[in-house]
Formats: sequence, C-alpha cells, structure tokens
Amino acid sequence: MEVLHTICYISKANPSLSEDEIQLLFEQVNQCNQVLGITGFLTYSFGRFFQVLEGNPKHILPLFENKIKEDQRHTEIFEVYNRSTPHQVFLKYNSKFKVVTQKEELQNIEKYLLAHRAAENSEKISRLLKPFLFFD
Ligand SMILES: Cc1cc2nc3c(=O)[nH]c(=O)nc-3n(C[C@H](O)[C@H](O)[C@H](O)COP(=O)(O)O)c2cc1C
Repeated sequence: MEVLHTICYISKANPSLSEDEIQLLFEQVNQCNQVLGITGFLTYSFGRFFQVLEGNPKHILPLFENKIKEDQRHTEIFEVYNRSTPHQVFLKYNSKFKVVTQKEELQNIEKYLLAHRAAENSEKISRLLKPFLFFD
C-alpha cells in the first residue's frame, strides 16, 4: 500500500503582511500543490493560517520542514498532526487542494468532513475548523 502523510497546523501570520501579499502567497500555494498532487486546504482568518497537507511524504515532509516552517510570512507554528495516514481525506473533494477565502467554501469543507467521518482525521480537522467559521 502507498505510504501517505498528513500535516495539519495553525500559525500566526506575520502582522506586516499586506492583503496583496497574502493573495500572492495563496496563488503560489495553489499552483505548487496541484503539481505535486498534494491535497488539503489553506485558510486565513484574523491573523491565523490553518493548513492541512496530505500526500506523499517525500513531497510533504521536505515542503513542510524546509520551506513552510522556515517561511518568514508566519510564526508560532503549532503542529496538530504530523504523521502517516492510511488515505487522503481530501482526495475526493472537488478541488483536491484549495486555498479557502470564502466562508461558504469552509462550510462546504465542514460538510464534506462530516460526510467522510469514518476517515480517521476528519473529525479532528472539522473541530479545528470551527473557530474559522465564525469570522467573515
Ligand atoms: C502559511 C503558509 C503556507 C504555505 N503553504 C505552502 C504549500 O502548501 N505549498 C507550497 O508549495 N508552498 C507553501 N508555502 C510557501 C513556501 O513556504 C515557499 O515559499 C514555497 O514552497 C516556494 O519556495 P521556493 O521559492 O524556495 O521554491 C506556504 C507558505 C506559508 C507562509
């Protein structure tokens, strides 16, 4: 069976980041992840990022350890998950990997996670998602 890995974290955005810079980051992330077959999502609300990355550990681990963790655009990275998983929860989600900027889209993710509750990571991710659903 293919080895898969999931990383899930919350971080604090660098307060000097402008809206334009966040937009630029989002575009960069969408492009890179599609190429590498990484699934999950990235969202931002009130100065916090929340990201789920799933896929081949050969791609996910160096990306997280060497790039994302070193990125000056955020600090206080709190890892909720960093472990191998039997499957990618978001493989069947329509966008595979998505930067989420609309509350409706986050609500769709929440619904999707509830429908796939059997997957071991789904419930934890949906609990973490809750605070992000409160903000516009
Ligand atoms: C909150 C946050 C999330 C990020 N997520 C990803 C990601 O999922 N995929 C990705 O390729 N880069 C992501 N990046 C960007 C990387 O840190 C890095 O800039 C990018 O991989 C390009 O690195 P390079 O210019 O050294 O090739 C993220 C950055 C931040 C601040």
